Amino acid sequence: MVNNKIFITSDIPEIGINLLKNKGYKIQIHNSTNSITKEKLVKSAKDSAALITLLSDKIDKEIIDKLPNLKIIANYAAGFNNIDIKYAKEKGIIVTNTPDVLTDSTADLTVSLILACARRILEGVELVNKNKFKGWQPKLLLGFELRDKIVGIIGMGRIGFAVAYRLKSFGCKIIYYSKSINRIAEKSINAKRVSLNELMKKSDIISLHIPLNEKTKNLINKEKLELMKKEAILINTARGEVLDENHLIQMLKVNRIFAAGFDVYHNEPKINQELLKLNNVVLLPHIGSATIEARNRMSILVAKNVIAVLSGKKPLTQVN
Ligand code: GLV
Ligand code: GLV
Repeated sequence: MVNNKIFITSDIPEIGINLLKNKGYKIQIHNSTNSITKEKLVKSAKDSAALITLLSDKIDKEIIDKLPNLKIIANYAAGFNNIDIKYAKEKGIIVTNTPDVLTDSTADLTVSLILACARRILEGVELVNKNKFKGWQPKLLLGFELRDKIVGIIGMGRIGFAVAYRLKSFGCKIIYYSKSINRIAEKSINAKRVSLNELMKKSDIISLHIPLNEKTKNLINKEKLELMKKEAILINTARGEVLDENHLIQMLKVNRIFAAGFDVYHNEPKINQELLKLNNVVLLPHIGSATIEARNRMSILVAKNVIAVLSGKKPLTQVN
């Protein structure tokens, strides 16, 4: 008898779940806002053929070894640093992600963070909310314009390009650091590829769009951060661990840079408490892809990947 059991570690949008239900699969869902524990996951998914995971579920060797019937791990995210994809491959398990479908949402959020930092939106909101608005003033909450600013995109993939494309319309100049040339970006928005050091030195706005892996972990280390201009802002909507968060906090404390915007952190969901004391940061709870459109598309893509693999076909977005 074919194994048609699917375990989902969280209650993802119905649209994808319905696709799976219509195919007659047996679906079990961990229906809680708390992340599933290792023990519960292993117990619940023990005889599943497909596992649908969140970026907050760490799927390591130990878990993979305990799920012998698994054919696919379908991550409900573009990133897949939470999964030991090499080991999964060794075990013949396909791993898939959800790229493309969340690009626009993540780019929109990145631009929101850039504007929030450049125009000191949070400080303004706080002032009004605390009833401290005393009237128009020539020097109240001065930020900076985006026109003619140099934007440094680290990682010119789909999301990096979508951010750059949006910023081009604000009048920004685009430079980028990426492992390969992005000819579309060079042609369409005149983006120039530079070294990482040059990007760190020249940019007024730096935005990170690299995946987290062995090569990118702590890529933006202390030395790189110290190359930044005093007026610059740094935005991270990628993964916390690609930069030296502690050092960046030290820099923000002494106003060594203008501001920083974060959607991702080291050790999520724990937040370094030092960050909460700063007034030159904008902190969001990892909501880059949090739109109805993106999450529905992610749900559909996850379902399509699972259906493909369980019916012996090639998945749409395999990563290993
Ligand atoms: C979000 O961070 C994702 O990787 O989808
Ligand atoms: C994400 O899917 C990217 O390639 O940037």
